[in-house]
Amino acid sequence: MDKRDVVGISHGVFWVGIKDRDRRLFDALIPLPEGTTYNAYLVVGDKKRALIDTVNPGFEKALEEKIKQITDPSELDYVIMNHAEPDHGGAIPHMMAVAENAKLVTSKVGARMAQTYYKVPENRTIAVAEGDTISLGDKTLRFIDAPMLHWPETMFTYLPENKILFPCDFFGSHITRGFYDNEVDDLVAQAQRYFGEIMMPYSNMAQKAVQKLKALEIDLIAPSHGPIYRNTQRILEAYDRWSNGETKHKATIVYVSMWKSTEKMVNAIAETLASEGIETAQYNLTSADTGDLARDLVDSMAIVLGAPTVLGGVHPLGLQATYLVKALHPPARFAVILSSYGWAGGAIKHIQETLGPSKMEIVGAIQVNGPPSEKDIARIVELGKTLASRMKEEREGTLEK
Ligand code: FEO
Repeated sequence: MDKRDVVGISHGVFWVGIKDRDRRLFDALIPLPEGTTYNAYLVVGDKKRALIDTVNPGFEKALEEKIKQITDPSELDYVIMNHAEPDHGGAIPHMMAVAENAKLVTSKVGARMAQTYYKVPENRTIAVAEGDTISLGDKTLRFIDAPMLHWPETMFTYLPENKILFPCDFFGSHITRGFYDNEVDDLVAQAQRYFGEIMMPYSNMAQKAVQKLKALEIDLIAPSHGPIYRNTQRILEAYDRWSNGETKHKATIVYVSMWKSTEKMVNAIAETLASEGIETAQYNLTSADTGDLARDLVDSMAIVLGAPTVLGGVHPLGLQATYLVKALHPPARFAVILSSYGWAGGAIKHIQETLGPSKMEIVGAIQVNGPPSEKDIARIVELGKTLASRMKEEREGTLEK
């Protein structure tokens, strides 16, 4: 077995998780170029033992074998379910069968979900609320309400004697490299990608959780995906910024183009924005990685959507991107829409209808017939300058506040 098969991360606390390097898709939507981890933790007190979260279905026996290296799995007293999603709850039925006397500890909403998903009966479930504790003897598990991060039942577990926070998905990253944060050079970018995919739609709840955590002494953050944080301040500060909707002087540009007309329009605005000193992240939707796109939406002040009209509406890839922008609730303040059509327009209206009411100001929308003429490009350059100037005003306004 790998020497990191089971890792002691603090006195009486062990990582017993799984690295799933072969997984390539999450939620049938999000690419996992590096796979992911299902971190589970065993906490051994001098009187009782608790397993914090479990692993994805298919790894039940591997989890049991790992626990066996530390203790007899049948003697577990508690299985803590911070989150019911099957990547962390999938081995609950197996572990509850192995540990016949164990109780499942979860939030009130989690208790209902545990019955629905994992058939855990009520008499084997302990529902906890904010501040409730469970004693393991010389160790205490304290529970923190953290709903909608990113399901209704989510909660965090805090171990005060070791100053460890177990926040499940919160602070996670879908990578299998490294074990501690200092072993992964691009960890903040990876965590930003994860935040964009999973937490950004619930930024308000994320901000509340960050504020609550500021009151705790935390030496280790042990999430359920990706590396464990020893530099807890760095990720707490990043989450504070992201959940607060702090943006950079940056535009995310997403487009699809059938005959390069929309692409020419998009390139013209991208060059204009760059010449105005704005950072751009540009994605052709035929090959874009949804996770990368989500990462850039986390801190972009503006979004440019480019898509042609096809079959009377927006190109399906443009529709998907528009829907994603709506669903992920990025903090962007401004948007621009660019489109080309062959014989009748419709894409811009379709995009605007799909976006629906939004806090984003549509600074401009330009549609052209066929390839853009020099005059069209001049209009797009002007629109780019207007967008840049609105972004500058916003930044100066924000800085003055
Ligand atoms: Fe990692 Fe929401 O499950």
